[in-house]
Amino acid sequence: MKKISLNTGITTFPMPAAVISVGIGEEANLITLAYVGKVCLKPPIIAISINPKRYSYGLIEKHGEFVINYPTKDQLKEMDYCGTRSGRDVNKWNELNLTKEQGVVVKVPMVKEFPWNMECKVIKRVELGSHVCYFGEVVATHSDEKFVINNRLDPEKFNCFAYINGNYIGLENRVLETHGFSMK
Ligand SMILES: Cc1cc2nc3c(=O)[nH]c(=O)nc-3n(C[C@H](O)[C@H](O)[C@H](O)COP(=O)(O)O)c2cc1C
Repeated sequence: MKKISLNTGITTFPMPAAVISVGIGEEANLITLAYVGKVCLKPPIIAISINPKRYSYGLIEKHGEFVINYPTKDQLKEMDYCGTRSGRDVNKWNELNLTKEQGVVVKVPMVKEFPWNMECKVIKRVELGSHVCYFGEVVATHSDEKFVINNRLDPEKFNCFAYINGNYIGLENRVLETHGFSMK
């Protein structure tokens, strides 16, 4: 296998994409993020990174809470919209006909129309350079019941997508193998 060195940019590697809610009440806003990842099991922690130029930055700083919302492939346009317009100029909830749904722990609203939501409380922030990384403890998770099997997300129905080098890539929803299959 011959490998070539790429530049140090990370945008060409697969990233999950999500729409994050920040802010409370009338000032609540939505922002699309690709820099989202699981970083700890116990307690459950997810890291997100936001550039301080974003309108959403002030809101997460103010309230210390956020909600990770995953749209389905059918809601890709909503995701792109939230990543290409600023809450300084438009009310993304109204423009996209999205509904604020109260979670069970945090005050930041969830997106009712998106089937998967994770409520998070910021436990740490780290200034890394272009982005500030927020470590959010996941305090509640929600899924449309039709995507759940045995009290867990049904992997073949988690119909989200990755963001790779400027492209939204659909993930094939087919289980190839299960954890530990290499030990059999
Ligand atoms: C697919 C996608 C992924 C993005 N990922 C991030 C990210 O991880 N961090 C970030 O600060 N901005 C990211 N952005 C840019 C913001 O979503 C965009 O600047 C947005 O308009 C900011 O909204 P706001 O000003 O209302 O906060 C992404 C945009 C898209 C389309």
